[in-house]
Amino acid sequence: MLKSRVILAMDKPLSYQVLKEMENELYGIKVGLPLVLDLGVDKTRELLIGLDVEEIIVDFKLADIGYIMKSIVERLSFANSFIAHSFIGVKGSLDELKRYLDANSKNLYLVAVMSHEGWSTLFADYIKNVIREISPKGIVVGGTKLDHITQYRRDFEKMTIVSPGMGSQGGSYGDAVCAGADYEIIGRSIYNAGNPLTALRTINKIIEDKVMKC
Ligand code: C5P
Repeated sequence: MLKSRVILAMDKPLSYQVLKEMENELYGIKVGLPLVLDLGVDKTRELLIGLDVEEIIVDFKLADIGYIMKSIVERLSFANSFIAHSFIGVKGSLDELKRYLDANSKNLYLVAVMSHEGWSTLFADYIKNVIREISPKGIVVGGTKLDHITQYRRDFEKMTIVSPGMGSQGGSYGDAVCAGADYEIIGRSIYNAGNPLTALRTINKIIEDKVMKC
């Protein structure tokens, strides 16, 4: 049984002590750009390096030429995984990043569907073709768009699906997993809570209960 379906979106620092208390009840931690801009790379690494979670995913939503994306990820070697946009295309960009990550035993996640209202689905076929060609470990599909999760699950049976947008952005905990996601990415509802550990435990329980019924 999975210890948790939750990936903590850390866009704001939490103390090492709080993170240590939460490590056994999280699947992973997603490191946001605001956190790294606040702490700097060295302090971010120090904060995360001793934590026992399955995955540390850096989410800078990379969208550049291959050379620049490789220069960014090589400076963040404390992470196991990196999120990039898929709309940037394959040749000279995502193909080079994927080769680099494969060679260094790191994972790639591609953004398939953003969680905000204004995200356009006009490019859905193109994005799916890029995902097929690159074959990343996983994709990011907004948890506020449950029908898209179900559709992506059908199209990409074996890929890991991670879904942000739960809690603060309106998604209900557990709904993304019931729609076909593997993990729910949750930030503000945990790190802004008076007691982040209690908030995480409550969310884990809600997800567990919902998943038993779906
Ligand atoms: O605080 P909240 O739970 O809304 O955090 C959601 C996290 O997921 C943020 O780090 C945000 O950058 C990220 N994200 C998102 N929608 C996407 C992809 C990533 O909200 N489609």
